[in-house]
Amino acid sequence: MRTFHINLKGTAKKSIIVCRKNVLSKQLKEDLPWLKAGGSLIFTDSNVFALYQRKIESLALPVFVMPAGEEFKTEQTLFSLLKAMAEHGLRRSSKLIALGGGVVGDVGGLAASLYMRGISCIQVPTTLLAQVDSSVGGKTAIDFNGVKNLIGAFHQPMYVYADPAFFKTLPEREIRCGLGEIVKHAALNAPLFDKLMQNRDRLFDLEFLAEIVPENIQIKAEIVQKDPLEYGLRRCLNLGHTTGHAIELTQKNLSHGECVLLGLLYESYLARRHLETDEAYLGELETLIRTVLACKIGDIDVEGAARLALLDKKNTKGDAVTLAVPVKKGEFAILELSYADYARELSEIRSTLC
Ligand SMILES: NC(=O)c1ccc[n+]([C@@H]2O[C@H](COP(=O)([O-])OP(=O)(O)OC[C@H]3O[C@@H](n4cnc5c(N)ncnc54)[C@H](O)[C@@H]3O)[C@@H](O)[C@H]2O)c1
Ligand SMILES: [Zn+2]
Repeated sequence: MRTFHINLKGTAKKSIIVCRKNVLSKQLKEDLPWLKAGGSLIFTDSNVFALYQRKIESLALPVFVMPAGEEFKTEQTLFSLLKAMAEHGLRRSSKLIALGGGVVGDVGGLAASLYMRGISCIQVPTTLLAQVDSSVGGKTAIDFNGVKNLIGAFHQPMYVYADPAFFKTLPEREIRCGLGEIVKHAALNAPLFDKLMQNRDRLFDLEFLAEIVPENIQIKAEIVQKDPLEYGLRRCLNLGHTTGHAIELTQKNLSHGECVLLGLLYESYLARRHLETDEAYLGELETLIRTVLACKIGDIDVEGAARLALLDKKNTKGDAVTLAVPVKKGEFAILELSYADYARELSEIRSTLC
């Protein structure tokens, strides 16, 4: 068992992250007296409920199940959940337990932040991505009006319980998706990078993943602690994401993690062109990315992606695109390119990558 305490700079809030096995059959059972005393509700999705129904029901807490999938990360789901919380009589002292992947975590966290102006949320992330990324840091959201994560809030979870036993039922596609964020963390952290390189043939091995989840949580937690509301440093977590998000909108067949890896790869080539970089390191990073990716790199619609990257307001100034790019082991830099250069260079890079 490993435990991390996150104290958030400038606030009195703190989160406790516990990495341990058997969260459903042990940790939550141990917590039941105080969970029941304040009144608690488990929020999960249809896939997780089907897989873990017996253990969930053995907790004898009320359960609200949303349909699985990003397309249900909506205001309808949010308000149905808030209604269930009201109908079950949740109070200020109650806890919402969000048991699922990033979608459940984001919707559950937002509902907890809104209900009675904020009640405590316990995150029990069940995907690799949710354990190493979305459950840590307190960002919550729903998609709205066709825009991803448009409505949201910062609401730090009281506890995060990360249990590697959930990976046993995860499809390979979801493991690969989580590995996208793990490789991003490795691009910010030299020891993790070396560990992934040394274990390149074990990246999909569940025991290896269980071993590296805590250090990934620690990497994210340290960044979040210093910049809880994303004013500066936390933007380094956008590594690979500006180009990655744009690719995600054009390539519906790819997962978020695969798009992040493609974004990281293209952005590493942009870095080589414009900044002082460590060539040998960026070569190793490319090897790592190619080990995880299952798609063809040359089939990507980078022209369409470049147009969409410009529309991403968070990353643009006038007609320029701002990127966080890898440069040296454990180091990133901010690169600003005109839209015209960005679009042209992505196409040129693709022809060299084919
Ligand atoms: N809040 C943040 O900081 C943050 C960061 C990154 C991503 N996100 C959000 O997270 C979401 C993506 O998260 P995700 O990749 O976990 O997606 P997800 O929640 O949709 O889960 C992926 C799929 O795996 C299933 N699943 C979950 N746990 C399972 C298990 N143990 N066994 C088998 N199947 C299981 C789900 O039902 C779903 O079908 C996106 O909405 C994204 O915006 C948020
Ligand atoms: Zn991401």
